Amino acid sequence: MIRGILQAGLFILCLALAAGAQAVHPDAHVWTTDEVQTLKSLWLGSLPPAPENPSNKYSNDYRAVSLGRKLFFDKRLSANGQVACSTCHMPDRNFTDNLPVAHGMDFTTRRSMPLAGVAYSPWLFWDGRADSLWAQALGPIESSVEHGISRTRCALIVYTHYRNEYEDLFGPMPEFSDKEFPAAARPAPDNAEAQALWDGMTEEQRNAVSSLYANLGKSIAAYVRTIMPGPSRFDRYVKAALDGDQAGMEGTFTPEEAMGLKVFIGKGQCINCHNGPLLTNNEFHSVGVPQPSGFAPDRGRAEAIRKVQENEFNCLGKYSDARPEECAELRFMDTDEAPYEGAFKTPSLRNVAERPPYMHAGQFSTLRDVLKHYQKVAQGRGHGGLGRPDIAHGQITDEEVQYLEMFLRTLTGSVLAAQ
Ligand code: HEC
Ligand code: HEC
Repeated sequence: MIRGILQAGLFILCLALAAGAQAVHPDAHVWTTDEVQTLKSLWLGSLPPAPENPSNKYSNDYRAVSLGRKLFFDKRLSANGQVACSTCHMPDRNFTDNLPVAHGMDFTTRRSMPLAGVAYSPWLFWDGRADSLWAQALGPIESSVEHGISRTRCALIVYTHYRNEYEDLFGPMPEFSDKEFPAAARPAPDNAEAQALWDGMTEEQRNAVSSLYANLGKSIAAYVRTIMPGPSRFDRYVKAALDGDQAGMEGTFTPEEAMGLKVFIGKGQCINCHNGPLLTNNEFHSVGVPQPSGFAPDRGRAEAIRKVQENEFNCLGKYSDARPEECAELRFMDTDEAPYEGAFKTPSLRNVAERPPYMHAGQFSTLRDVLKHYQKVAQGRGHGGLGRPDIAHGQITDEEVQYLEMFLRTLTGSVLAAQ
């Protein structure tokens, strides 16, 4: 009996609390027609198929996906046998590693990026210095602080361990032996020894190695392309809003979460950059993030423009499968460096709550710190780094910061990848 009264009391209390929250924000779940259209534009259900990548004709080949998946997890592709792509891009951590700056053979100067939905991005890395997923994959392997091995060593490894799968896709391999193909040989302006070994090979041998290396990138890219975000609570909310299902909306978001969404698409102007179903415009902006101490100033996109033009593995290069007219992104890219000082690629906000720390060098450890930063920048305070922040929003109150954080936490869903 007493238990019954207590239960009834608790029930009434809950009702009162819910009604109270509703009363504080009576319009939390009310959206104008225009706002519903904006919500729809952020909904995962609006995501079109990933754009084709003409520079990689193996992009959608299931054999390339299968080979690429094995290579992604293969630690033999590293100087100490300990580092694979998956060391920094862990499938159970949103394909990132929760470190402020990545650690492979040594520390890098930037944070490992999450990979869900990366097939939609025309530019890769925080500064966009690669113009395709396959060109991107070839960077870390020869980086001395990441995998730390040469393309020639990759050729020898693929020859030894993946010959059948490789030949099935790309055709016959030359006889790679470490006599004729010294394992340390690579083009390396910073390493005279590696460069001398590379120059010691014939042009035909160098070309055989670089072609294999490009193909390895193309198969890894075919796998990385399959890494996609799954629906989140936010997507269920938008579906309810699209259906005009008031009870569904109220059952999916608290009034505070809905208020956070209102700030996100309205006053906060977050969707100037975090837009579309992946919540990124894939462009480069400075948001005034401070430089981490002890690091050389990072010019971001400004420094990458030349790098992407000079990359031998870019869309216009000889290893690309694209016709020049199919390389519009690269040919018509904005080459003016000045606007891009200290600008970095807008990150997707899908699953953002699950993967601290934040920003290009993990400068902030919590979502609250990120939002406090935006709050300060809007007040013209607390901005560090190079360049001028592109932030246009006005003051955000402490209460709005709380709501924004609650909203960002609704963007969590599963991450899917080819198995
Ligand atoms: C030592 C850790 C480490 C390893 C190993 C590593 N990465 Fe990364 N990855 C990073 C970091 C750090 C960045 C950002 C680097 C930058 O902007 O300069 C990044 C960026 C990326 C991006 C760009 C994502 C985007 O949105 O632009 C992709 C894709 C990626 N890595 C895939 C790979 C693949 C494939 C491999 C293996 C061939 C690999 N990574 C190996 C740390 C690592
Ligand atoms: C001018 C474009 C722009 C606007 C407007 C903007 N952002 Fe960002 N956002 C970025 C960029 C660029 C970064 C990465 C900056 C860096 O690392 O230096 C970022 C990073 C973030 C991150 C960290 C994500 C991660 O993986 O590190 C969060 C969270 C975030 N923004 C939320 C917001 C919210 C909330 C708003 C609105 C108050 C907002 N942003 C407004 C461009 C923008």
